[in-house]
Amino acid sequence: MNSSISFWNRSAARYAQRPIADQNAYLRKIALTQKYLNPEMDVLEFGCGTGSTALIHAPRVRSYLATDASPRMIDIARKRKTEKSADNLRFVVATLDDMQHRQQAFDAILGLNILHLLRDPEQAIYQAFSMLKPGGVFVSNTACLQDTRPYLRPVALLARMLRMAPYVKFLSRQQLEHQLVRAGFQIQYRWVPETSRDVYFLIAQKPK
Ligand SMILES: C[S@@+](CC[C@H](N)C(=O)[O-])C[C@H]1O[C@@H](n2cnc3c(N)ncnc32)[C@H](O)[C@@H]1O
Repeated sequence: MNSSISFWNRSAARYAQRPIADQNAYLRKIALTQKYLNPEMDVLEFGCGTGSTALIHAPRVRSYLATDASPRMIDIARKRKTEKSADNLRFVVATLDDMQHRQQAFDAILGLNILHLLRDPEQAIYQAFSMLKPGGVFVSNTACLQDTRPYLRPVALLARMLRMAPYVKFLSRQQLEHQLVRAGFQIQYRWVPETSRDVYFLIAQKPK
């Protein structure tokens, strides 16, 4: 298991207890996403963590597959699911690499607070593109620290070496948009919340 996944396994219980940092921005992202969802859709979320967002969106769609590389995160998500009725929602331990047999299988893919944690976010974007049906949407929320706090790079490196933080890639918003466009996406919506300028919320569409 790589060191970042060990980090997320160790952090899962604490992560589940943590309050949402910016509740208004979170609710707005939920509402913006739901404009693109409907009851006929099959949805994939990767890096779903403890499943809070999956539990909110699942009742709006036909099927919702929520995946995460950390077994501990998925254990907590499954426990949460038993407290709600969500028959169309499945939580599975998997990475995007594991899902590559599902080509053109999904109407929407969500990658929330995950792309900047991957060594190769561009590859993940290409993978998401190939797993979407034509016209499908990719919803992402990504820390773009290269724009807001590039000076934190050595701190992030040190924290990772001390096993206090996972791997973090310092992306810029422009870089992220270029990667999406290179993969073939058209950007439909972009938003930097005023209250948390580190993150970039994007909705991108695969052409029909
Ligand atoms: C910051 S948390 C975000 C969780 C959730 N999406 C949210 O917004 O609350 C990042 C999640 O990504 C997962 N993760 C990290 N690397 C991953 C990978 N390569 N594939 C899938 N999940 C991964 C971690 O286990 C963790 O649950």
